[in-house]
Amino acid sequence: MAQTDDKLTLKEISRRIDALPTLPEIATFVLNLLEDPNTSSQDVTNVIIRDSSLSGQILKLVNSAYFGLPQKVSDLNRAIALLGFGRIKNLVLSLSILRIFKTLSKKQREDFTKFWQHSAVTAGLMKRLALRMGRSEPEQAFVTGLLHDVGKIILLGYATKEYTAIVKLAQERSASFASVEGEILATTHAEVGAWLAKAWNLSRESIEAIATHHQASTYQNEVLPATLYFANFAARSKGVACAGSCEPHHFDEKAWEVLGLPQEDYFEMMAAVDSERSIADMILQVSGASESGAKG
Ligand SMILES: [Fe+2]
Ligand SMILES: [Fe+2]
Repeated sequence: MAQTDDKLTLKEISRRIDALPTLPEIATFVLNLLEDPNTSSQDVTNVIIRDSSLSGQILKLVNSAYFGLPQKVSDLNRAIALLGFGRIKNLVLSLSILRIFKTLSKKQREDFTKFWQHSAVTAGLMKRLALRMGRSEPEQAFVTGLLHDVGKIILLGYATKEYTAIVKLAQERSASFASVEGEILATTHAEVGAWLAKAWNLSRESIEAIATHHQASTYQNEVLPATLYFANFAARSKGVACAGSCEPHHFDEKAWEVLGLPQEDYFEMMAAVDSERSIADMILQVSGASESGAKG
């Protein structure tokens, strides 16, 4: 891409950042545990127990109307047994990643609620797809979905003027953020996100998927990027979009071909968006990340 002197580059944005946002310790720890095939549910329980705020949030979620348990659960081990190991791991990651966003200003948080819904729905759909395809690492798919647009948060925080201009332009043209950002920046939210994902030691596949999540035409057999492309599209086409991302619903069929799933699955995944959105809203509520901005 041609770079002009007046457009911000990734290098310049990275220079503006004194300290890179760190992935909360607990999320890093859980990510490492997930990489270890010998991880047991007890290992994860031990991590949660050491974090009282996280334990409280998990219990609140288990006891929420969503899970419809007949009795109140106050024991963490039991909560984990009831929800299942896979679900617990995703909740811990979601809740710990939400901690990053507690530092945002009130204005930034307004955009953030939409951002969260979009990211969490994309993550949930990616996990469903990974399970449907019989992939061995559904959590990798979940994490990739959760963080795929994190470059936008960096732009919002460190290239605020440009971020605002991109959102405005996208809204004026009823176009997507991704399709107009090149007019204002000499980088993209995907490139910035991949850079952060690398700093956070995410897997090579996750970094690649984040970097290419708007470029389905370049896919050959890349399953994780294709999963992300579809999940991102599905969320957006049902109105679960980031601020300023009112993209026309163009879908590059190539991504679905790479997944090799039957057409029924396409419709089933589309139908799953609403249920993923309910879970996303509940997690946000329990985390307190949506309210803490009222103070600051
Ligand atoms: Fe994106
Ligand atoms: Fe997205």
